[in-house]
Amino acid sequence: MFKTRFLDLPPLATAAGTVRLPGSKSISNRVLLLAGLCAGTTVIHDLLDSDDTRVMLDALRALGCGVAMDEAVVRINGIGGALAAREADIFLGNSGTSVRSVTAALAVLATTQGGRFALHGVPRMHERPIGDLVDALRPLGCVIDYTGVDGFPPLQLGDGATHALNLDAPIRVRGDVSSQFLTGLLQAMCLVAGDRDIVIEVVGELISKPYIAITLNLLARFGVKVRNEQWARFTIPQSSRLSSPGAIPVEGDASSASYFVALGAIAADPAAPVRVEGMGSASIQGDLAFVGAAQAMGANVLLGDNWVEVSRGSWPLKAITLDCNHIPDAAMTLAVMALYAHGTTRLTNIASWRVKETDRIAAMATELRKLGATVAEGADFIEVTPPATWQPAAIHTYDDHRIAMCFSLAAFNPAGLPVRILDPQCVGKTFPDYFETLFGVVTARERGVPIITVDGPTASGKGTLASALAQRLGYHFLDSGAVYRATALAAMRSGTRADDEQRLAQLATNLDLHFPPGQILMGDQDVTETLRLEEVGALASKISAFPLVRAALRTLQLSFHRLPGLVADGRDMGTVIFPGADLKIFLTASAATRAERRYKQLISKGISANIDSLRAELEARDARDQTRAVSPLRPAADAMLLDNSALTVEASVDAVLNAWQQRRPFDAS
Ligand code: DC
Repeated sequence: MFKTRFLDLPPLATAAGTVRLPGSKSISNRVLLLAGLCAGTTVIHDLLDSDDTRVMLDALRALGCGVAMDEAVVRINGIGGALAAREADIFLGNSGTSVRSVTAALAVLATTQGGRFALHGVPRMHERPIGDLVDALRPLGCVIDYTGVDGFPPLQLGDGATHALNLDAPIRVRGDVSSQFLTGLLQAMCLVAGDRDIVIEVVGELISKPYIAITLNLLARFGVKVRNEQWARFTIPQSSRLSSPGAIPVEGDASSASYFVALGAIAADPAAPVRVEGMGSASIQGDLAFVGAAQAMGANVLLGDNWVEVSRGSWPLKAITLDCNHIPDAAMTLAVMALYAHGTTRLTNIASWRVKETDRIAAMATELRKLGATVAEGADFIEVTPPATWQPAAIHTYDDHRIAMCFSLAAFNPAGLPVRILDPQCVGKTFPDYFETLFGVVTARERGVPIITVDGPTASGKGTLASALAQRLGYHFLDSGAVYRATALAAMRSGTRADDEQRLAQLATNLDLHFPPGQILMGDQDVTETLRLEEVGALASKISAFPLVRAALRTLQLSFHRLPGLVADGRDMGTVIFPGADLKIFLTASAATRAERRYKQLISKGISANIDSLRAELEARDARDQTRAVSPLRPAADAMLLDNSALTVEASVDAVLNAWQQRRPFDAS
């Protein structure tokens, strides 16, 4: 997951390949709660692993449910409708499904069994309405107190005493603000339907009906068959009891699929479509209907039971007018697809956007306008006309995963502009690996993937600077010295002579190097530390003078140039390997400073050292690196020279980031 302050998406060109979806958030959290409430063990396959499911799992643990996880499955041991813990403080982040569902279930359990629970979330959650649910539960006798602002979490559920519920009259709940209130009630009322039918009546038009369909479907799998009369009146039959289905799979997330369906429609050749696996015509999720909407905009679609393949059909896309009440989440993706349509797209009946992770109508309008689109918005609609002239934009994401994900599609803009996504880690709510998955199925425009090179003499701090830059930007990091060192190590281990250029080049060609984060593996052996040894560095310096060795290591180094970008450090990054780099740094420090740094480094590792001989060695290596016939160490003509003798690491990093920011088309953010 990208935890950087921003992620710059290079201008993208094409899409193709297969994406395996993460589990559905809606199904995951319903299944978790139902598994926690019923008796026995439920084995859940393909559960979504994200912020929203993590808070639900924490809540279940706090309630005394057993939770066991291994790679493939999660096992929940339910409380069987009887409180195992009477008090708990439950934090539910910004997960709307969790807050609404847990509130209803715990209000019922705490009231009837004598518990007291505090329930809260992130600040935005405390702005998201819950009054309609509380107003539905209080007339039954549920004890619920607002501990912050009336109508919103945080809440206290129960007062520690036992109270009977009055379930004779139908329960009335509003359906036109969030369908999650009804979902919460339906799940909770299964806990108390022992000796009578329980009737729930919806007041006002029920929105987002497909989400209620998911709830009903899953309740049926947990043994409760709710009667649905026209989406206006629901009856939980007398003696209904939640019972574990044993094992239950979670479908891929159809809302998450929307970004890849859109990707296919925008950028995939029909001969090589984008294939999305994990949901299809057999899915129970309403956002499957997004596929039809994408088709209406021109996508070429092939739909299987559990997969969908999408490519470009009409281009530009066709503008549509669509009532999106049934696909509120995926409809945000349509608003971004509208940037590529001919004409104005109008999405209506989306008032619920205003009470989601952020006010999504306002947020979408603001961010789409930044890109140059003309946008009209109303209480419950949005209208998008594509930009006449695209503008480079830094997209605010409002801690809303869907804004981050859908705006990534703007990187296909015909102007070839990069798109900056601020706070990209917000995708962790439902799709932690979203950007990695995206990068796996797209190609950038020619010369679109940025490169920053950091060259300089030994012990100048290149590695530290370059890896810090890579981390701050979310880019890949190439420590090119490591590939020379690895060749030297391979030579030492195989007894290859330091002057046998042919054999050394062969060793270089056959290096089996891998670079998991912060580590260097040779085969399956961790050589991170070994490569730093002085004798390995000294041999690397010698053998790096051979043209055949340098040529053999070229392809490996070039392979690091991948989305979303690269920071490469070495001696010839800006001059030979990546001469077209976007920013070249030549980092120096005086020989005295460098000798002192190396000295401190060695001493801190418990290795004895002599500062004068270190300096002499450094200078000898400088001379060798600078005078060799091939790729001598020298600054590229267009390099920025940075002497860091008197700079802290942070100051050097900031200096380079400033220079980088000035070359980007975005305002400083
Ligand atoms: O940066 P370093 O100390 O890990 O590099 C080890 C040796 O590898 C260095 O003395 C010269 C050589 N090298 C090179 O010739 N070209 C590079 N791009 C990187 C390193």
